[in-house]
Amino acid sequence: MRLLVTGGAGFIGSNFVHLTVRERPDVKVTVLDALTYAGDKSSLSSVADAITFVEGDIADAALVDSLVADADLVVHFAAESHNDNSLNDPWPFVQTNVIGTYTLLEAVRRHDVRYHHISTDEVYGDLELDDPERFTESTPYNPSSPYSSTKASSDMLVRAWARSFGVQATISNCSNNYGPYQHVEKFIPRQITNLIDGVRPKLYGAGLNVRDWIHVEDHNSAVWAIIDGGQIGQTYLIGADGEVNNLDVVRTLLEIFGRPADDFDHVNDRPGHDLRYAIDSSRLRTELGWTPRYTDFRAGLEATVAWYRENEAWWRPVKAATEAKYERSGQV
Ligand code: NAD
Ligand code: DAU
Repeated sequence: MRLLVTGGAGFIGSNFVHLTVRERPDVKVTVLDALTYAGDKSSLSSVADAITFVEGDIADAALVDSLVADADLVVHFAAESHNDNSLNDPWPFVQTNVIGTYTLLEAVRRHDVRYHHISTDEVYGDLELDDPERFTESTPYNPSSPYSSTKASSDMLVRAWARSFGVQATISNCSNNYGPYQHVEKFIPRQITNLIDGVRPKLYGAGLNVRDWIHVEDHNSAVWAIIDGGQIGQTYLIGADGEVNNLDVVRTLLEIFGRPADDFDHVNDRPGHDLRYAIDSSRLRTELGWTPRYTDFRAGLEATVAWYRENEAWWRPVKAATEAKYERSGQV
C-alpha cells in the first residue's frame, strides 16, 4: 500500500510515521510537509531511509495532485495547530486548515483515493465542569477559536465531499495528545522544558480548565483501526478517558521534578479559553474493538519527561524563540 501522510514532520504525524514503519513494513510511506515553525525533519531522522520526504505545501494543487495520483491512501495531519497562535494571527489557519484541506479533497476526488481526515474534539466547543455529558459523534459543532473554527470548516468540507462526490473518507476527532516530539509551545512540553531549565510553570488563569489527555501512540493506533475497519463516511471520536485539570497536570509535573506543589505562576488567561473537553469514544471501542494502552497518565507523563530530558538537542533550538513569542503576546 502507498500511503501519503501530510504533516508527517509534526508531533502526531511523525509519531504516526514511526508507528507505521515499525508495525507495517508493507506500507510505502511518503510524507508531505511544508516544514513550518512546527515541522522538524529531524523528528523523522530514525526512519529517513524507510520513507520518502517531500517538502511542500498542502495548498499547492499541482504538487498535491501528483502525490495523490501515486497514493492508495492519504492520512491528513497537516495543520496550523496552536490556539494561542490563531488568536494572534488567524490567516495561516484559514489558508492551511481550510484551503489546504480543500486542495487535498479535490485531489482525492479526482484520483478516487481513500482519505482519512485528522481532526479535533475542539470542533464541539466546550462543556461545563459539572456537565455529566461528554462529546459524541452527534454533538453539534460549536467551535470557539480561529483554530477550532478552521478545523470545523475542514471537517464540513470532508463531509460534503463524501456525500456529494462519493469521496471515500473517514474523520476522527481526538482529544489532547501528549508524548514525544510535541512542540514546546504546547502546555505539557512547555512546562516540562521550563522545569528542566529551572523556570516556574505557567498556568493560564486559575488552571481549572479540563483537557482529556491521550498518549499520542493511542491516538495513532486508533487512526489505524479506523483505516482498517472504519465505515466510509463515518466520524469516530478518539479519547482515553483522561480528564485532568491543568492545575493537577502542573502539580504532577512538579512532583515528578521533586519541586514544591506551589512552585508555579498564574499568568494571563487565554481569551475565549474553552473550559472542558471530554470524549465518549464508545463507537470506536464497540465497533472497532480499539482500546488505549497508556491508561496511567502519571506513568505516561514520567515517560514524556524522560524523553524531553534525553532529547534536549531536539527541543533546545526552538525553546528561547517560543518563550519570546509568549512574552510578546503577554502570556508569561
Ligand atoms: P503540529 O503543529 O505539531 O504539526 C503540524 C505539521 O503540519 C507540521 O509538521 C507542519 O510543518 C505541517 N504543516 C503546517 N502547514 C502545512 C502546509 N500548509 N502544508 C504542509 N504541511 C504543513 O500539529 P499536531 O499537534 O501534530 O497536530 C496534527 C493534527 O492533529 C492536526 O490536524 C491537529 O488539528 C490534529 N489534532 C491535534 C491534537 C493535539 O493534541 N495536538 C489533538 C487532536 C487533533
Ligand atoms: O483538544 C485537542 C486540541 O488540543 C488540539 O486540537 C490542538 O491542536 C492542541 O493544541 C490542543 O489544544 P489546547 O488549546 O487544549 O492545548 P494547549 O497545549 O495549547 O493547552 C492545554 C491547556 O493548557 C489549555 O487549557 C491552555 C492551558 N495552558 C497552555 C499553555 C501553553 C496553560 O495553562 N499554560 C500554558 O503555558
